Amino acid sequence: MKKITLVILTLLSVFTFQSRADEGMWLPLFVQRLNYVDMQKEGLHLTAEEIYSINHSSLKDAIIIFGGGCTGEIVSPNGLIFTNHHCGYSSIQSHSTVDHDYLSDGFWATRYEEELPTPGLRASFLVSIQDVTAAALAGVTNQMTEAERADKIKENSKKIESENTKGTQYEARTTPFFNGNEYYLFLYEVYKDVRLVGAPPTSIGKFGADTDNWMWPRHTGDFSVFRVYASKDNKPAEYAAGNVPMKSKQFLPVSIKEKKIGDFAMIMGYPGRTTRYATSTAIKFALEKNNPMVVKIRTKKLDILREDMAADASVRIKYAAKFAGSANYWKYYIGQSKGLKQLGVYDRKKELEDQFANWINTDKDRSAIYSEALPDISLAYETINKYEAAVRYNAEAIMQGCEIIAFSRNFNKLADVLAKPKPDQKIVQTLTKQVTEASGKYFKDYNMATDVKMLAAMLQLYYNDVPKEMQPAYLEKIHKKYKGDFAAYASEVFSKTNFSDTTKVKLFLSNPQSKSLQKDPAWILYKAFSANSSLIDSLVKPSNELLAKGNRLFMQGLREMQSDRTFYPDANFTMRLTYGQVLDYSPADAIDYNYVTTLDGVMAKEDPSNPEFVVADKLKQLYKAKDYGRYGENGKMVVGFLTNNDITGGNSGSPVLNGDGELIGLAFDGNWEAMSGNYAFEPKLQRTICVDIRYVLFVIDKYAGATNLINELDIRN
Ligand code: ARG
Repeated sequence: MKKITLVILTLLSVFTFQSRADEGMWLPLFVQRLNYVDMQKEGLHLTAEEIYSINHSSLKDAIIIFGGGCTGEIVSPNGLIFTNHHCGYSSIQSHSTVDHDYLSDGFWATRYEEELPTPGLRASFLVSIQDVTAAALAGVTNQMTEAERADKIKENSKKIESENTKGTQYEARTTPFFNGNEYYLFLYEVYKDVRLVGAPPTSIGKFGADTDNWMWPRHTGDFSVFRVYASKDNKPAEYAAGNVPMKSKQFLPVSIKEKKIGDFAMIMGYPGRTTRYATSTAIKFALEKNNPMVVKIRTKKLDILREDMAADASVRIKYAAKFAGSANYWKYYIGQSKGLKQLGVYDRKKELEDQFANWINTDKDRSAIYSEALPDISLAYETINKYEAAVRYNAEAIMQGCEIIAFSRNFNKLADVLAKPKPDQKIVQTLTKQVTEASGKYFKDYNMATDVKMLAAMLQLYYNDVPKEMQPAYLEKIHKKYKGDFAAYASEVFSKTNFSDTTKVKLFLSNPQSKSLQKDPAWILYKAFSANSSLIDSLVKPSNELLAKGNRLFMQGLREMQSDRTFYPDANFTMRLTYGQVLDYSPADAIDYNYVTTLDGVMAKEDPSNPEFVVADKLKQLYKAKDYGRYGENGKMVVGFLTNNDITGGNSGSPVLNGDGELIGLAFDGNWEAMSGNYAFEPKLQRTICVDIRYVLFVIDKYAGATNLINELDIRN
């Protein structure tokens, strides 16, 4: 009897201890312990130390946070970066004008001197990861309220961060994992001089645009090229003409070998956010509240932008990045709702919760700890649901929706100081300088006529859809005064405000007076909404705290209940590794998708009358001549391919690596059939869409003739 139990136990542990390939965004710190055996079996030829080490250079040293929300990788000894075109998009746009339209035409520097400094763009290298759970939770007790707990953790984190960065230039971030059950410290070395080196035209880098976005089969050459610069001693430095290309500890070799289904593939990068352990109530909230609201507001915003962008080339360039960002997640939320419904995610979550409830009920001690977790979450969502329209519309339609309101926020500090009986002129000067800088950036990509329409439309939406008792009283006043005509109100605001153009702002800032600010109609409107949103936030805050507590306990309990499962933490924009295979899929009954796309497909999609599907003449010539050089495969040019790796937004630009740690592609998207993937991974359906590195090299080499860049790479056959 005993023997049999033992055998069963061993079998069970062998069976369950294995982490499953594909699903999972693993912390590189634990690769050796949790994933290594499995990865080797699947085709990894590196050691765990070659992937992540703090004593030797390793793969992690070639992978960066690109800007504020993407991943990039170093591919040459001279700090050359590959990332996605959509990650470099706002930088490419910032350098573009109607006369130098790098979005439409592409950009290629042939020498270092031609590379374009891009103020504000940063490249962050991960130095180390450390488990600091004990120190972060020191002094935290179960009797504390959530607010007290959060304060204590914040205080501890500050201490941890300052202790660990003493005498260094590192930036530190203490980040919660597993819904606040664990804490890890991340140290980064942040380089602040990053320059644009190369970008394909939009007709390659964004081919298929919003029609193809989030979808396979895909034919987008979604890449762009930058370079990290450093001081002469290779240290991070602000931009300076004398800075030199940075030498990173590691750079990635590039493989132009053919790929087959089943080939090992892994991705390292910075997935932004998943909520895989969220409850059914969260799914209901997404389906009934958040998603439809975001989609409705963005549909309106995008309509307005689209019209104005089509009418004027300079407006098209100014709003290109704003439009793309908004459209990307507009479509995302449509797909997510579809996926959540179709794949029965709510029911699957509910089933797990029923299991959890049963598990608690059979044990008094468990019950004492966990019995309130799920009820607390449900209770919290009652309030969160109730106020969601006020919260979401305030954020989406008002604060981020109307540019003039977003801009008004810059005057907050200045307004406070000016309101004092005797404003400190030194402080006024400093703040004035800050606002001047902000307004320079703001007006560079601004079209007032568009914002006038936007303000009218967004106020109307807000007025219609947010429960009256949750709106600022001021809005009703406007509505009455203008007899419901928000367009009339909007033009009135813009004719009287100081915030509508550079000249007026400059004039105001040359001698800023509280009186004129306080009667500025844009300022008054902004203040009315911000006061209202503070009030709403204070009403929702206790519920958000209750939700945090419930989620933390549920997570803790779940790990206890499924003690033989290897859990991976939700994405939180820290470095992760995911591994699996190059793999095709079947999106629906009777349909099989191939795992690669080729230039044939680009040509088949070509439509000169549709800006999303234009094909450049040069690319057509290369296609006709089959001039693919060493990047082709059996007379074809592969463009994109699929893996079953587990990624999400933030991973964009991540290196897709083979078993030897060589770069085979750049990850850039997820697929339509599994858009609910942030809530639940779908092994059969969920894929990562990658641009093949051979297509990237072909475009750089054959299309752009930028052989200077090709020569920097370590290309392997
Ligand atoms: N869906 C991709 C992502 O979030 C972005 C693709 C960019 N293309 C576009 N048409 N907006 O990573």
